[in-house]
Amino acid sequence: MDYLQIQRHTPLEGSIAISGAKNAALPLIAMTLLAKNAVSIGNVPEVVDIKTLLKLLQNLGATYTFDNHCITIDTCCLRNTKATYDIVKTMRASILVLGPLLTRFGHCAVSLPGGCAIGQRPIDLHLKALEKMGATITIKSGYIVAEAPKGLTGAAIVFDKITVTGTANIVMAAALAQGTTTITNAAREPEVVQLCEVLYQSGVAIEGIGSAYLTIHGTNRTLLEMNSFDVIPDRIEAGTYLCAGAITNSTLTLTHVQPKHLETVIAKLEEMGFYCDITDHTITIHPTQTIKPVTIVTQEYPGFPTDMQAQFMALCTQAEGTSTIEERLFENRFMHVSELQRLGADIKLSGHIATITGPSKLSGSDVMATDLRASSALVLAALVAEGETDIHRIYHLDRGYEKLESKFQTLGAIMKRSKE
Ligand code: UD1
Repeated sequence: MDYLQIQRHTPLEGSIAISGAKNAALPLIAMTLLAKNAVSIGNVPEVVDIKTLLKLLQNLGATYTFDNHCITIDTCCLRNTKATYDIVKTMRASILVLGPLLTRFGHCAVSLPGGCAIGQRPIDLHLKALEKMGATITIKSGYIVAEAPKGLTGAAIVFDKITVTGTANIVMAAALAQGTTTITNAAREPEVVQLCEVLYQSGVAIEGIGSAYLTIHGTNRTLLEMNSFDVIPDRIEAGTYLCAGAITNSTLTLTHVQPKHLETVIAKLEEMGFYCDITDHTITIHPTQTIKPVTIVTQEYPGFPTDMQAQFMALCTQAEGTSTIEERLFENRFMHVSELQRLGADIKLSGHIATITGPSKLSGSDVMATDLRASSALVLAALVAEGETDIHRIYHLDRGYEKLESKFQTLGAIMKRSKE
């Protein structure tokens, strides 16, 4: 197993290019199950989660090539509709094949994804919506067995809670359904918006793209002709590097970003005293005299993203005063707290609220990565911790950050990957 050795090094300096968004690429790859032609997708990040989904599609019978951030996937000859436990257990987002497989073939079996480090993460809303569209769903031996022999039928779906992959699954299911589906309380994340836009460009009539109320007119199982397209930039990777600039009080420039997708993150950084220069596709963060404390509440887009909560917690350890972070989306997304405390952070937890008092003089130690974003918070803290920090179990980071250590090295950080 690999671990990461990081030495304190401030300030960082320079510029890096942001990769394509993992969370946009995943549904877009699942979406190729709805295509009648081979589909090329550019700007795909070379991270483990993407390779996992490609392996899943290959097991189902798809063929693909993946070179230089471009994937070409052909699902035309796919006949197998069983997504097996060995792959699904490694990545919850595998559930994204459920809607497309069912709507195209009228039957499928997808292993239940199970729990994960950041909470229970049920999929009841996905299943309820598919049932409303006419599917019969049973759980057998750990598998979701879904049947709709005559295909799915459009329905009025009302999500009790906003769900990102749930919205993506139902939009894809509705794309080939018979008749019209409406989704009330749809997720508005940029990754969902891109999925809707690509489907729209492929001939699916969708109204309300980018809003919480979507109307999708299905093609009644006519497969789609899809053109090639590029994945949007990764707003969470960009936010993480902005926090790296902030915690080390550096001037850093990010290129290949979409600043509009980062408005709440940039607003919080500005509240903390940092100045960001923004152009159409770049953001430059500048140092500040004093890092001010903040209050953060995680919310669905366009609110402050839960996927940036851990990184801001690391940053708050260096603010002058007391910050609070309230996690509203996931019940157990504070696994990084105990590891940050090992580095010397002053953090108190009370239910869903963390109170961070700074500035703390952090000192390097051995810490354990627990989930994808928690791991990046440890990387940020390690950049300012005295001495060396060794982060173990970094396979979590490899799931979602492309070339993490070489990007940081470009900025001057002292970071090395070693084997346990
Ligand atoms: C996606 C992102 C993840 C991000 C999260 C919230 C991907 C691959 N992952 O995860 O990085 O942290 O959105 O922005 O895009 N819920 C239910 N029942 C369901 C579905 C969800 O109760 O059927 C609950 C969840 O437990 C959670 C909340 O709804 O409390 C939001 O979850 P959801 O938006 O579905 O997260 P994911 O799509 O899994």
